[in-house]
Amino acid sequence: MSNRAKPDHWTIKAKKMGYPARSVFKLEEIQKKWTVMKRGGAILDVGAAPGSWSLYALRSTGPKSHVVAVDLKPLGIKAPSGHKLHFLQGDVFTRESAEFLASFGPYDCVLSDAAPSTSGNRLIDARKSYDLVMRVLDLACAHLGKGGNLVVKVFQGGDEAEIRDRIKSLFKEARTFKPKAVRSESMETYMVGIGFLGEKGSEVPKNPV
Ligand SMILES: C[S@@+](CC[C@H](N)C(=O)[O-])C[C@H]1O[C@@H](n2cnc3c(N)ncnc32)[C@H](O)[C@@H]1O
Repeated sequence: MSNRAKPDHWTIKAKKMGYPARSVFKLEEIQKKWTVMKRGGAILDVGAAPGSWSLYALRSTGPKSHVVAVDLKPLGIKAPSGHKLHFLQGDVFTRESAEFLASFGPYDCVLSDAAPSTSGNRLIDARKSYDLVMRVLDLACAHLGKGGNLVVKVFQGGDEAEIRDRIKSLFKEARTFKPKAVRSESMETYMVGIGFLGEKGSEVPKNPV
């Protein structure tokens, strides 16, 4: 069994807590540092499957909140009783998903742990991740309420400086953060935008959303 296939401390802990994936601890660390999600908030989760972030978002913001999730793959979770989770299995680049997400907005927080399927070529993978991040930023511009927050996964090794600059122009504060649960060999990091500036900071989305 390779090191990656072996369940590590984070995976075992996640399963015990009812989460399908260890990635939940990345969001937990970010939430503890910046409180990106508020109780009763509206949260958009892009690239949500198997569902650990959506479940964590629901559990930590209470039954008055709602989470809207989209992914190419199905979710492997159920919302806790009395909590609202709306899910679309689909591609975040399509008009269908844009309309679905718009119908539940505006949002207080946009999360994206979306990752392209990797080819092993760092440049190609970073480019695919860049396209996903830009799509998420277009969605944030269109559907995030003023003062809202953003968490987005970014693959390093490409145009991450451009992504950081765009986040800086849209939010009061922009941070880059590598949570402890990110595997040491991973090229991923997270960018956090705090306090969406709204119309003042918005650019025209590159793709209609
Ligand atoms: C690392 S997983 C997300 C894990 C999730 N945050 C959790 O905690 O369970 C990345 C996800 O991004 C999704 N994804 C990649 N490209 C996508 C796209 N174009 N539209 C929707 N989802 C996409 C993949 O299907 C995959 O499930």
